[in-house]
Amino acid sequence: MRGVIASAAAALAVLTIATSQAQAPGGASPPADPPITVRPDHPGRLVFERQCAACHGAGPGDDGAAMLPGTMTLARRYQGSRPAALELRDDLPAEALRYFVRNGSGAMPMFRKAELSDAQIEAIAGYIAATARANAGSGP
Ligand code: HEC
Repeated sequence: MRGVIASAAAALAVLTIATSQAQAPGGASPPADPPITVRPDHPGRLVFERQCAACHGAGPGDDGAAMLPGTMTLARRYQGSRPAALELRDDLPAEALRYFVRNGSGAMPMFRKAELSDAQIEAIAGYIAATARANAGSGP
C-alpha cells in the first residue's frame, strides 16, 4: 500500500478536468468545487473510474445532468464544508471507505467482495488520498 502510493507519487502526471460549475436543478446551487487535478497514473484510478466515477465523478453526467448523483448528494449535504467530489476528500481512509462500500448508503448500492475486493477498496482509498494531496492548497 505504502509502496503503491510512493510509486504513484513519484510519477506525478497530471490532467485537469473541470468540475461541474452548473447549478443543481431545483433548490440552492451547491458551491462548485475547483477543477480537479487527477492522478491517471495511480493504480486505484482505474477501479475508481469503473466502479465509482459514474456517480462520484466531478464532471457533468452523460445524461447532461449538472452533477452525478453521488457528487450532487454530497454537495447538497456538505454545502461546501467538505468537497462534493470524492477525489478531493482527505478524510476517507480505507476503513471509512470500506464501511460505505460494503454497506451502501442512501441511493448508493453496496458492493460485495465478489464485485469489489478489499484490496481494490484500498487502492481506491490510496487514489482518493493521492488526488486530495495533489489538489491541496488549490481550493478557493
Ligand atoms: C449508483 C451510484 C453510486 C455508485 C456506483 C457509488 N456511489 Fe458512493 N454514494 C452515492 C450516493 C448517492 C451517496 C450519498 C448517499 C447518502 O445519501 O447517504 C454516496 C455516498 C458515498 C460515500 C459517503 C460520503 C459521505 O461523506 O457521506 C462514500 C465514501 C462513497 N459513496 C464511496 C463510493 C465508492 C468508493 C464507490 C465505488 C466503489 C461508490 N461510492 C460508488 C452513489 C454511488
